[in-house]
Amino acid sequence: MRKLPIYLLTLTAILLMGCTQNKPQYIIGVSQCSEDIWRNWQNSEMKMEANFHEGVELRFTAAHDNSELQSQQIDSLVKSGINLLIVAPNQLSSVSPAIDRAYDKGIPVIVFERKTDSQKYTAFVSADNYEMGRLMGEYIVSRLHGKGQVMEILGLKGSSPADERHNGFIDALKNSDVNVVATIQGDWTEPTAYEAIKSWTGDLNSIDLVFGHNDRSALGARKALEERGASLPLFCGIDGLPGEDGGIQQVRDSLLDATYIYPTRGDQLLKLALDILDGKPYPKESMLTSALVTRENANVLLLESNEVVRQAQNLDKLQTKARGYMEQLATQRAMTLLALILIALLVLTLVLFILYHRSKVSAQRERVVNNLWNMEAPERLRVGEQGSGMEEKNKEVKSEEPKVEDDTSVEDKPAKEPLFIIRFKDVVEARLSDSDLSVDDLAAAMNLSRVQLYRKVKAISGSSPVELLRTARLNRGYQMLVKGDKTVSEVAYDVGFTAPSYFTKCFKDEFGISPSDLS
Ligand code: FRU
Repeated sequence: MRKLPIYLLTLTAILLMGCTQNKPQYIIGVSQCSEDIWRNWQNSEMKMEANFHEGVELRFTAAHDNSELQSQQIDSLVKSGINLLIVAPNQLSSVSPAIDRAYDKGIPVIVFERKTDSQKYTAFVSADNYEMGRLMGEYIVSRLHGKGQVMEILGLKGSSPADERHNGFIDALKNSDVNVVATIQGDWTEPTAYEAIKSWTGDLNSIDLVFGHNDRSALGARKALEERGASLPLFCGIDGLPGEDGGIQQVRDSLLDATYIYPTRGDQLLKLALDILDGKPYPKESMLTSALVTRENANVLLLESNEVVRQAQNLDKLQTKARGYMEQLATQRAMTLLALILIALLVLTLVLFILYHRSKVSAQRERVVNNLWNMEAPERLRVGEQGSGMEEKNKEVKSEEPKVEDDTSVEDKPAKEPLFIIRFKDVVEARLSDSDLSVDDLAAAMNLSRVQLYRKVKAISGSSPVELLRTARLNRGYQMLVKGDKTVSEVAYDVGFTAPSYFTKCFKDEFGISPSDLS
């Protein structure tokens, strides 16, 4: 009984935890090969898209251009229980085994933007890097009027966009007098491009244009050449990100001559991931479209992209607000539920307490009444606890036959019972067979008023004098029936009942059996 509230409280806590913690339906791991302005932009697009879907958790990792680290991170993501992996492999072959391991474990894999050398992936999403290199080459040829000296800064060795951009670029220059006089190994980062130019021993004055495989490489080269102080060549890159410090603005500000937008489309990636997880149809290969940014269109594109950025920021603010409201709502809901459960607990505890108290009081009173007539009526014969067969009942009745009261009982009791009760008992017992015996008679015999007698008897036994009188009659009847030398009717009259049928009824109510079962 005392442990009950503890169980209920535990149940409440579990219920509340269930209400407040929303278990994600899908956990999506995003393994980025690096951490830079392009990756950050893409990650924020994925996050924003995830806000539109219930129960999506994104787990991001960034390998900082380190293939070994990326492999470990993929293994950890898989171990952490992701449902789908989105991965941009740092290099073509070195990250592939980790991707294969994830795929072999049954985890759908979306490879995006950089390729793996294995076929173990669910879908691939990218812009066409070869085409981008080729179109940039064509632009450069026309910009240099078909003739000039160009320096190319490659992307990371072993990463698929670097190879493809290079191939496209070289193919575009084939039928022109634009020559690549220097091919410098970069790794997509600005500092590496900067250092590479600084340590290049060739004739920098002969260079008409620097093509970096991405905007950051082109800008690293520009920085190094600016420090030289001589006149600057043209700079072209790829990425064309929106926003401040993005490639579009750099073209508008003439830091770059041109760039090619390398679409991030984090939103599209996430939608594809959810389609795969939801079992909807999806394309195995998706090509993202893109566009060249030059001095001619940079201004317009910048205005447009700034608008996109502004809208995205507004959306982000709205989503943050909405999340705040949802959290508030969840807290309020949890509090209401807690309050309701507490009220229910209180009511339940109160009811249990009342029931417990009542059963205790009634047991106490029963004890008093039974003691009073030295009559331990067999518990099993009390109303509602009857055995199955009559024979068995009779056996029980006989084996637990109440002791016939003898004179010593009264002498045995005085120490335990108040004098008043002993006297009351004597008075009742002496006139038990008198069917006319009234409460007034009993009160008079006790030298008390009717009200006084009632109060005293009630206080001690919990029963009224009339009830006690009936109990005494029934108990005496029980004893006589057990002796077996009188009929039920004779016993009924002997214990002061005027009608045997009424005796039978009261007897049944009291002991749960019929008097005839005992005779
Ligand atoms: C971003 C980035 C881009 C580049 C692409 C190539 O991490 O370096 O600048 O275009 O990756 O995969």
